Amino acid sequence: MQRKSAGKGKTMPAQSPGTFFATHPSRADTFSESVIREMTRLALKHDAINLAQGFPDFPCPPELKTAACEAVKDDINQYAITWGAKDLREALAKRVKTFNGMDFNPEEEITVTCGSTEAMMASMLAIIQPGDEVVVPEPFYENYGPDAQISGATPRFVPLADNFSIDEEKWKAAFSKKTRAIILNTPNNPTGKVFTKKELSFIADLCIEHNVVAITDEIYEHIVYDGHKHISIGSLPGMEDRTITIGSFSKTYSVTGWRVGYALADASLTDRIRKIHDFLTVGAPAPLQRACVAALELPESYYKELAVEYDRKRQILYKGLKKAGFACELPEGAYYIFTDIGSFGMSDTELACHLVETAGVAAVPGSSFYHTGGETKLRFTFSKKDETLIEACKRLETVDGSHT
Ligand SMILES: Cc1ncc(COP(=O)(O)O)c(C=O)c1O
Repeated sequence: MQRKSAGKGKTMPAQSPGTFFATHPSRADTFSESVIREMTRLALKHDAINLAQGFPDFPCPPELKTAACEAVKDDINQYAITWGAKDLREALAKRVKTFNGMDFNPEEEITVTCGSTEAMMASMLAIIQPGDEVVVPEPFYENYGPDAQISGATPRFVPLADNFSIDEEKWKAAFSKKTRAIILNTPNNPTGKVFTKKELSFIADLCIEHNVVAITDEIYEHIVYDGHKHISIGSLPGMEDRTITIGSFSKTYSVTGWRVGYALADASLTDRIRKIHDFLTVGAPAPLQRACVAALELPESYYKELAVEYDRKRQILYKGLKKAGFACELPEGAYYIFTDIGSFGMSDTELACHLVETAGVAAVPGSSFYHTGGETKLRFTFSKKDETLIEACKRLETVDGSHT
């Protein structure tokens, strides 16, 4: 695997002089392919267990399957309204009010998108002008680097403290006249950090003081452990009209391939997001939007069970990783363990290649979550069946050097 890092601008296509590519640089040259998705390709090539990419290897709830099949049978096969089917927007407004404590008018303030990936890109394109700065806590989900590059933003990476909490002085120093937005992700990928009300209030105050928009990716909102509580920064006083809250059906309902997500924001922000969304995609898949209404009708017990299931998986992987020589902590939320690999005597990329080729387990090199650094880390997901995780842990124990 070539050493790549999203947003670092290290890869340029090899071209001979005189070709179109040599004389016409593109914004696509300023970032590299996703390392996470590349690890999935490597896992397939080596027939390895894929603990790299965060998608379940178990089925979604049967209610969703039935609803999706019925939607196709009912001929819901044409474009939905560009910003989302009305019944889905209405169901989302209800859910967000009860779970997140926020009010959104489904007619003017909700946009259904092709996953939260599109919601993030459309939001950034909607509010960023080239040269604007965007504050990004580091480590970060690797998409945010290219998202910034594509939208023309200059990312200002702010390192999280060692325990992944907010370092207030560093945050204050990161804001300037050029700051237009921050990108927050809670519960966090890759660290598992669930930001506290105190931390979010501090960030909210900075956003208000500097007239900055918070774009918050909350797709793991239902996957939290040990009594940690998910809080939406958009629910804090003064943040109603300066927050874009991004969510998705991908993780909560185990349907990452359906590509249905959403952006929630006040009408003026939504107006811009919808325009970008319309010309990027026209809309998310219509029959699956119908099925997502069924997802939102699942009982409250569904969400409790989801967290319990993931807690068990978290313990299996944590114990397995520890036994195999990885230094790690239990995450507070989301479904990843971000390990320290110091004892293996290899860089993140070397160890990731070694694991996939010799042990048959794929993980993600830590450097793909940093603009510089991260070579001492690997990320593993536990969004897999228990038996998949148990087998992966067995394989990891066989890795040379894991007990040095
Ligand atoms: C933090 C974060 N945001 C967004 C995504 C992509 O989500 P979606 O499938 O909704 O596009 C992922 C996927 O792993 C993620 O971890």
